[in-house]
Amino acid sequence: MKRILLIVTGGIAAYKALELIRLARQAGLGVTCVLTRGGAEFVTPLSLQALSGAKVYGDLFSLTDESEMGHIELSRAADLVVVAPASADMLAKIAAGLADDLASTLLLATDKPVLVAPSMNVRMWQHQATTANMALLATRGVIVVPPDVGEMACGEFGPGRLAAPEAILAAIKAALGGGGALAGRHAIVTSGPTHEPIDPVRYIANRSSGRQGHAIAAALAALGARVTLVSGPVAIPDPPQVTTTHVETAVQMQAAIQAALPADIAVCAAAVGDWQMAAAAPQKIKKNGAPPALHLVENPDILAGLAVPGPMRPALVVGFAAETQDVAALAEAKRLRKGCDWIIANNVGGTGIMGGMENEVMIFTAAGHIALPRMDKHAVAAEIARRIGAHLQ
Ligand code: CTP
Repeated sequence: MKRILLIVTGGIAAYKALELIRLARQAGLGVTCVLTRGGAEFVTPLSLQALSGAKVYGDLFSLTDESEMGHIELSRAADLVVVAPASADMLAKIAAGLADDLASTLLLATDKPVLVAPSMNVRMWQHQATTANMALLATRGVIVVPPDVGEMACGEFGPGRLAAPEAILAAIKAALGGGGALAGRHAIVTSGPTHEPIDPVRYIANRSSGRQGHAIAAALAALGARVTLVSGPVAIPDPPQVTTTHVETAVQMQAAIQAALPADIAVCAAAVGDWQMAAAAPQKIKKNGAPPALHLVENPDILAGLAVPGPMRPALVVGFAAETQDVAALAEAKRLRKGCDWIIANNVGGTGIMGGMENEVMIFTAAGHIALPRMDKHAVAAEIARRIGAHLQ
């Protein structure tokens, strides 16, 4: 039997941990709970104990706890450490490596994968400190189940609500190697910009950060898919549990994608450069005389190539449409022109989207389109992955 160590921290959403325990046990998982002092303000050890059927730990310095099971032992006896809900304070402690109570000590002492499901006020979630902590945790391979968007207990609206217990359980199962909605599927994802060389020191690029494509790769992996990510040059870390190939140009990206086929799912989130130099200069172009005329030729269209009917075509081919005007009409036209199944359209004319942390997208399919609210790119990715999982089932 696989076992999780569930750390419940303080927050209104702590009551949802009870439902998570129930679902986890129903799914055949063993659950050992640790309740922080803050968590104990919202739920009682007795309710956790009744649902988990096991002793609940709470105090680092309890001598009886230490003699029964030392905190190092507790942190290693589980297959996965889950923090749900994870407060802003606990996320900061994990990021900083603090160990001033049992929960944070366990998180520092563990050698097991860690999954966190944050829950907090929208402003706390969007604060630069939390954003920086989350980015740091991602580089260390911590699995994140992003918060949902919605009405919050404090009356505000936005991202910050604890993800649904069912979504957290799906991510737990995926992390434990059990069947998520995309278990057994292979997904390929393109992400980031391309760099098209002009000469050995100059290149044509664009503002893509790779954040959305990387988040989609991570979200597909969290649902159990085997994911191959082909990334152009970006400044963000490779997502955890994903095989990442780094390329520079569109031609290299296409070759890496061809090498990764066959796949069940293709998501082309890269901002592939439309043009390359007909012939990049072998030496640095000097500025003697008139500015050089750049003779450009079109790059191969990776998305359209993947969408061509045939035995190698993935069952679901998803493209992006970055537009600055008339988004709906252009996106649907692009879906038909490229031959892909879905187009995820965003208006990159809006402030802070291209290269930013948030995205606001519409998903176009043969059946029509739906609009998602503006939210963190991880939340957009989780929603897209969820819909892909549902579509393929
Ligand atoms: N794409 C691709 N290969 C290219 C160009 C684009 O795979 N050479 C993919 C992108 O990853 C994205 C989709 O096609 O999924 C749309 O890209 P976009 O640049 O918005 O569309 P274009 O076809 O280039 O059309 P236009 O520039 O006229 O808007």
